[in-house]
Amino acid sequence: MAKKPLRIGLIGYGFMGRAHSNAFAQVNHFFDLGHQVQLQAVCARNAEAVKGFADRWQYKSIETDWRKLIARDDIDVIDIATPNNLHAEMAIAAAKAGKMILCEKPLGMNGPEAEKMVAAVEKAKVANMVWYNYRRCPAVTLAKQLIDEGRLGRIFHYRAKFLQDWTISPELPQGGAGLWRLDASVSGSGVTGDLLAHCIDTALWLNGGIQEVTAMTETFIKERKHSLTGKVQKVSIDDASAFLARFNNGSLATFESTRYARGHKALYTFEINGENGSLFWDLHDLHRLQYFDHKDEGAVRGWRSIHVSDNGAHPYVGKWWVPGLQLGYEHSFVHQVADFVEGLDSGKPAGPTFRDGLATDYVTDAVLKSAGTRRWEKVKQLKNK
Ligand SMILES: NC(=O)c1ccc[n+]([C@@H]2O[C@H](COP(=O)([O-])OP(=O)(O)OC[C@H]3O[C@@H](n4cnc5c(N)ncnc54)[C@H](O)[C@@H]3O)[C@@H](O)[C@H]2O)c1
Repeated sequence: MAKKPLRIGLIGYGFMGRAHSNAFAQVNHFFDLGHQVQLQAVCARNAEAVKGFADRWQYKSIETDWRKLIARDDIDVIDIATPNNLHAEMAIAAAKAGKMILCEKPLGMNGPEAEKMVAAVEKAKVANMVWYNYRRCPAVTLAKQLIDEGRLGRIFHYRAKFLQDWTISPELPQGGAGLWRLDASVSGSGVTGDLLAHCIDTALWLNGGIQEVTAMTETFIKERKHSLTGKVQKVSIDDASAFLARFNNGSLATFESTRYARGHKALYTFEINGENGSLFWDLHDLHRLQYFDHKDEGAVRGWRSIHVSDNGAHPYVGKWWVPGLQLGYEHSFVHQVADFVEGLDSGKPAGPTFRDGLATDYVTDAVLKSAGTRRWEKVKQLKNK
């Protein structure tokens, strides 16, 4: 049967623009889907640069004004891969135009903004998804399966961290291309909305909702030159953020993120401890899942390092190569597109939807509030639709 075309209009061709384009280009080669993903158009402000990107990735056309892209009737899906302060305006306009939307994380600059985005996609009844791609690393998906099968039993602890070291130099400017993450007016927050948002999304998915948090944040470098104004300006992002959390299921958690952990580039790890077993995952070794099963016979009981590459037993792996060959970072994005398209095919939307992304924004809002009030803060809970 002929596949239905799914024509993508990508906005932004930076780091994520490349990761998404690779996923769109690869997905139909490996997954049996009812839709054929097509690289229809890419949009960014610099015509020459966007033309170069379109040629490299084989997009059929370009735009330099995202509003024109959204207005086109040969685009089915708007993919938002721009800095955080543009997500809401673009997504709401795309929803009004009846487009399906894939949006980068964090969904909004904060919860109230993300609420408007959720309202827009739900009113327009358009398919929507947030790019919390770590859910689709096969080892993380396997962790979800083991937890859902009840293998860990009652969960006591969740422990996550995401460590980097790229902003330690006080000479590093803030703002502009490549450095917008240091400018709170563009990013919304520092590591809380950037890195901890990933940890929180995974945690909500694996371990359910969070009730309350208590947090501390720090801005180590108080002033930096701004790339766009040339002036030395106050730094308003959180350089480091750590919080304690209590989940709805009674388990306790610690989360930590910083861009000042010398030697660490993208050390995202989580560990979950349950009554019957524990799990540990590390982004630097992303195709492995560490699993401890207390039911094992005492003499051989210990942490297993599962190489998540078994075609028959492990999620997504069978779509790729022969057993034993590992998958990497880019595959998580391919898997996310595959699940999005399968959701369209089956009528059962895959997560994380905008509503799921809003739940993460509610947690980051509470973290930032708690860092200011120095008190425990309740996390706003999602209302039923
Ligand atoms: N899922 C993940 O793991 C992950 C990783 C990195 C970034 N992100 C998210 O992806 C988004 C983009 O991050 P990035 O690292 O790709 O940033 P980037 O700076 O590499 O790319 C941003 C792109 O947006 C474009 N852009 C900016 N303003 C625009 C406008 N007005 N119209 C059209 N294009 C515009 C820029 O030209 C650039 O191509 C952010 O929301 C970020 O939080 C997610």
